Amino acid sequence: MKTCSAISLSGGQGKTTVIFFLGLLLAQRGKRVVAVDADPQCNLTFYLGADVEANQPTLFEVLTAQVKPDDAIYETPHENLFVIPADRGLFKVSDFLASSGAGAFILKLRLQAIANLFDYCLIDVQPSRSQICLTAVGASDCIVIPAEANVKGTNSLSDTLGFLEEQQALTAFSGSVLGVIPFRDRWIGNTQSLESRQNIQAMTEFAEEIPILPSIRESEQFKRAIRQGKLLTELGYPDLQYPFEKLVESLENG
Ligand SMILES: Nc1ncnc2c1ncn2[C@@H]1O[C@H](COP(=O)(O)OP(=O)(O)OP(=O)(O)O)[C@@H](O)[C@H]1O
Ligand SMILES: [Mg+2]
Repeated sequence: MKTCSAISLSGGQGKTTVIFFLGLLLAQRGKRVVAVDADPQCNLTFYLGADVEANQPTLFEVLTAQVKPDDAIYETPHENLFVIPADRGLFKVSDFLASSGAGAFILKLRLQAIANLFDYCLIDVQPSRSQICLTAVGASDCIVIPAEANVKGTNSLSDTLGFLEEQQALTAFSGSVLGVIPFRDRWIGNTQSLESRQNIQAMTEFAEEIPILPSIRESEQFKRAIRQGKLLTELGYPDLQYPFEKLVESLENG
């Protein structure tokens, strides 16, 4: 099982969007995928439409070892795609992780128990330098960094790269950064907006040897596809799906 997280230290950078479409696409190609919602906002859990009752186990119970990971895996309406969900109480796991003394390694350890069941584990991560983020980074073989094509996104990328370097230096993160995905890249007809162009250029400089992957265009169709639980190709927008296809390639080769 290859584990890949979407990480950005600022909110609204496209993490959940990337994990959602990547999960759907891999599953559609016949890969067995488990998506892990490591964000107390629980957007991914909601997007994937799994049927989870309030008293059923979630990532919280997995991390705190109250249940085995396979007891917190739920089917989604999508063949081959499963989810370990979050609920709003997930924030409380921070104290447990911090006091364990080895928070960065806990999720990695728990996921070992299901490594034979899946081809890919995709983790949607809370946007902060939290214990939840640390444990997700520690569990990752590879990481993608979505970043909005504006000043906030460029700053978020810079903070996120600094954070990952720190984790690498501490040997808490031993995987690789697959690439940066510019998010909400704005085009008017055939012309890219100046803001998008300048910020993606700045991202290229910050990222140094880390590749800048094809960007996710600004478009209402993504929200529509998420609402309907469909891929962009299924709505008739193969061009908008291109960045996820390239991401699958990087994931398979990386
Ligand atoms: N291509 C797109 N163009 C415009 N808006 C989009 C696009 N794709 C997704 N969105 C919207 O942008 C918002 C932010 O995206 P998303 O939730 O994926 O970011 P996030 O990094 O997961 O945010 P958070 O840090 O809050 O978890 C969402 O409301 C989403 O519906
Ligand atoms: Mg999110």
